[in-house]
Amino acid sequence: MATSRGGFSSRLGFIMAAAGSAVGLGNIWGFPTQTASNGGAAFVLVYLVLAFCLAYPAFMAELLIGRYGQANAVTSLQKMSKNLWQKRFAFFVGFGGIICAALILSFYGIIAGWMMSYAVEPLAKIVGLNDVASWVISQGLVRNLFFTAFFMSFTIFIIRRGVEQGIEKWSKRLMPLLIGLLILLIIYVMTLDGAIEGLKAYLNPDLSRVFQPDLIVSALGQAFFSLSLGTSVMVIYGSYISKKENLVQLGAQVTLIDVSIAFLAGLLIIPAMYVAQSQGVAIFADDGSLIAGPSMVFTVLPTLFTSMGFIGLFVGFAFFVLMSVAALTSSISMLEGPVSYAVERHDMAREKATTLIGIIIFILSVIIIINLDFMLDFVATLATQYGQPIIAMLCCIFVGWIWNRSDVLAEIKQGNDTVEHSFFWKIWPWYTKFVCPVAIGFVFIHSL
Ligand code: PHE
Repeated sequence: MATSRGGFSSRLGFIMAAAGSAVGLGNIWGFPTQTASNGGAAFVLVYLVLAFCLAYPAFMAELLIGRYGQANAVTSLQKMSKNLWQKRFAFFVGFGGIICAALILSFYGIIAGWMMSYAVEPLAKIVGLNDVASWVISQGLVRNLFFTAFFMSFTIFIIRRGVEQGIEKWSKRLMPLLIGLLILLIIYVMTLDGAIEGLKAYLNPDLSRVFQPDLIVSALGQAFFSLSLGTSVMVIYGSYISKKENLVQLGAQVTLIDVSIAFLAGLLIIPAMYVAQSQGVAIFADDGSLIAGPSMVFTVLPTLFTSMGFIGLFVGFAFFVLMSVAALTSSISMLEGPVSYAVERHDMAREKATTLIGIIIFILSVIIIINLDFMLDFVATLATQYGQPIIAMLCCIFVGWIWNRSDVLAEIKQGNDTVEHSFFWKIWPWYTKFVCPVAIGFVFIHSL
């Protein structure tokens, strides 16, 4: 079965694909934004602790479910269910994750489309098409539809080609590009006036905020979104890993890459904001906080790029290509969740399933675009603040309470025979059983 459904051909292939899913707009936009509005490095500190202590154990639970089941999220969870009640629960959790991934893609595709449009703008200026340049960055129905469709076509194109030729191959191409662009941009921004002040603001923790409940809730939400939890995505990626691989180590490596790239993105965005300030751009809102959210990416930074003159066109282009690439390696994982379900449970051909599901999700995006003011926020909140934590918590409950401890151990032992005596095995089962569900539940209730 494993050969007919495909899988990652190598360890690096999995790391690139899973890190590609994890590293997205959440890291490059969400993380610096949250850091800016939550007391700088205090947020970074809390994020690091929560990412490793809570998100990583939950991430391991999802990877293990997939690798054990060697199938889509619903089938994998049902394989560990012992009775009808558990099988129904498995369906609810697995299918809930798949719907969550589809919902996220429906709004993520719109935002990713904006990133692409901002990457096209400097190109249009370079070739003298100034009208096109201003059209692509002005909010408008046609422009939004066009760029969302453009972005979704890329996503569909990659997923149609399958795991090895699509997800793995493209993640291996795009992730090094992303890391290279990020580092080049950081180096460039650091040479500009004001960058060091930004660096200080980023790295200087306001420790009095570390225990603020709002900050903890935001950091945990960010960590869960970033590791793509509660969406069936890591279950399906786990199902494509060979049984010879050491999952504990692979999961830790992916978490480390994810966290490091978020940290690096902070090194780019916050200093860039202060560079903009030294060029006369307003970077603080009326209440004294650093401007965050869409105006940071679509107003402050573009103003900075414009103020740089001709070189700014290239810097702006590189920045928005970076954003688009990050979004693409995440969006393909979101589409793979529902596609794998349709292929494996409904016997559909991969190409057909991908196009059909891609179009359905695009129609959802169109509905959001038509009602942008109200629906973008609504769908984003529904999927990321409600859907993801609930499904991630239920996955932990599945592994902690329904799956036999000896079966869990047998699965982890594949590719890692000594795990039984490791620190990981002493802590993790207990963590997934009690700490993760309670902490996620607590944070969820607080965020309401
Ligand atoms: N982790 C991605 C990011 O940080 C988003 C994502 C969420 C991807 C859910 C897949 C599933 O942008």
